Amino acid sequence: MAKISLIIRFGVLFIGLISYVRAQRGNEPPFYLDSESLLEISPYNIDQLVYNTSYPTLLEFYAPWCGYCKQLKPSVEKLASKIKAKNLPVQVGIVNCEDPNNAKLCSEYDVKGYPTLVTVSPKSLKKVGKNLKLSKKNYNVEVYSGEREYKPMLNYLLSKVKSKVNLVTDFHQLYNSLSAAASDSKISKPFILNIFDPAEKTKKAAALDDVLKTTQLQFAKSFDSFKVDVNTVSSISSVLCQEKADTPEAAKMCGELKDKVLQGHSFGSFLVLCDPRNEIFSPYESVEYSSYGKDLNAYEALNVKLSNWIVDNVGRANVTITDGPLSSKAELVQKSIFKNKYAKKKAKKGNKSKKNEEENYQDEL
Ligand SMILES: *[C@@H]1O[C@H](CO)[C@@H](O)[C@H](O)[C@H]1NC(C)=O
Ligand SMILES: *[C@@H]1O[C@H](CO)[C@@H](O)[C@H](O)[C@H]1NC(C)=O
Ligand SMILES: *[C@@H]1O[C@H](CO)[C@@H](O)[C@H](O)[C@H]1NC(C)=O
Repeated sequence: MAKISLIIRFGVLFIGLISYVRAQRGNEPPFYLDSESLLEISPYNIDQLVYNTSYPTLLEFYAPWCGYCKQLKPSVEKLASKIKAKNLPVQVGIVNCEDPNNAKLCSEYDVKGYPTLVTVSPKSLKKVGKNLKLSKKNYNVEVYSGEREYKPMLNYLLSKVKSKVNLVTDFHQLYNSLSAAASDSKISKPFILNIFDPAEKTKKAAALDDVLKTTQLQFAKSFDSFKVDVNTVSSISSVLCQEKADTPEAAKMCGELKDKVLQGHSFGSFLVLCDPRNEIFSPYESVEYSSYGKDLNAYEALNVKLSNWIVDNVGRANVTITDGPLSSKAELVQKSIFKNKYAKKKAKKGNKSKKNEEENYQDEL
């Protein structure tokens, strides 16, 4: 009899303890805000998100109670929101080392104090997304020891981005190398020319440049891109077309360029996609590509349009897509975006019955 009452007493104590822990958790302020781009990294998604990507990643190993993590938090949130706003080809992942599921991950990365910041970036794009087996050897893992402000962190990440849209100042040279590639037995890549008007320094033109850089990276550089001043093209294209077009593809490209440029093209910057292997020459007609049904910002919408345009022209089978809206992991990225479950539960609770509230608490434990 005494034994039973002891068990009951311990039972009550135990239940009391659980309720206390629950209450404490309930009162704990949420750590990160919903950012729409902060990736919650775990052993289940790290391989795909951090080691099968063309993007450099900043990983933060943190514990919600740690003071330095709290200090760093606004910078990380700002970094994530900048990335989202301009659709930049870099990512920020957070690993909560308090979560028992992540214990092994945190020790793997030799986390001895919080927060620990690490960058992971591909050594070269040649192998990314092309090996069916994942290889972490293709990535550099480095401890980030720079300033813990959003700007230096962002600049550091951007410095790891392997994507450039080179300015071509000598159009003859570009033309020659491209047409040589086209008649060569080696298969050359498709390429995009961003023909810009320097007189039009608009935000739109700058955005186009940024989005092209991002898109190129998402395609693991299975196409090249160049920037060409519209004046360079127009002053030279008539001569070029008559004298230098020795292959049918080049002649076609030249003719199309001439039409576009010399006939007073009025919409400022424009893009042309060329695939010399397949005699593809295609200007970008933005009206053909609307992206709807999603809540996208201007950069993201243009990213979707450009990606579809490229795939429609060169064929999905002819490009590697490691990141971005058309990649096979786009859904996983969406699923992994940090959501503040605490905030959501709190908002929901107001409407629910007492019984459901109990169930919610059960979920949380
Ligand atoms: C991919 O390129 C090849 C030529 O290299 C072409 O024959 C084929 O049609 C392209 N695939 C698609 C899906 O367009
Ligand atoms: C890596 O990504 C590519 C392209 O998204 C995909 O085809 C491939 O299956 C992925 N690799 C692994 C091991 O999952
Ligand atoms: C909760 O109640 C508010 C009004 O009190 C209502 O606007 C909202 O839609 C409700 N949410 C759910 C999930 O029922």
